[in-house]
Amino acid sequence: MPYAPQHPKEAELQAASVQLNHTAVYARDRQLSADFLAAILGLEVGAPFGPFLPVDLGNGVTLDYYEKRDEPIQPQHYAFLVPEEQFDGMIARLEAVGVTYYADPHHTEPGRTNGLFGGRGAYFDDPDGHNMEIITRPYVRP
Ligand SMILES: [Fe+2]
Repeated sequence: MPYAPQHPKEAELQAASVQLNHTAVYARDRQLSADFLAAILGLEVGAPFGPFLPVDLGNGVTLDYYEKRDEPIQPQHYAFLVPEEQFDGMIARLEAVGVTYYADPHHTEPGRTNGLFGGRGAYFDDPDGHNMEIITRPYVRP
């Protein structure tokens, strides 16, 4: 018998207590990719944990860099909510290492940032082509 919530709001209440804790991020070179993200965002790379190289984010989520060499890496999208006062520094570090940033997710507006939802945002590729996004305001959904 399929599971059915007991109360119309039960699923909503349950979801409120569930948090993303960690996820694996595929990389050809975990050190290179973890170092790149940490350097751009101003974070630390943690000690290796088995096959994983962790980068801890401010909301308790860990990105566990994991090397995948047997097949091509499918680029994923990761978006980071960052403090407004750190945004310019991140853009400056991208420029310093020669990584192009874009105002849009399809990378058609190079060298520009966006002003979505009253904040600022930009997209850039990590060494494996993952589409990284930094925003200073969360998306507003209808
Ligand atoms: Fe996004």
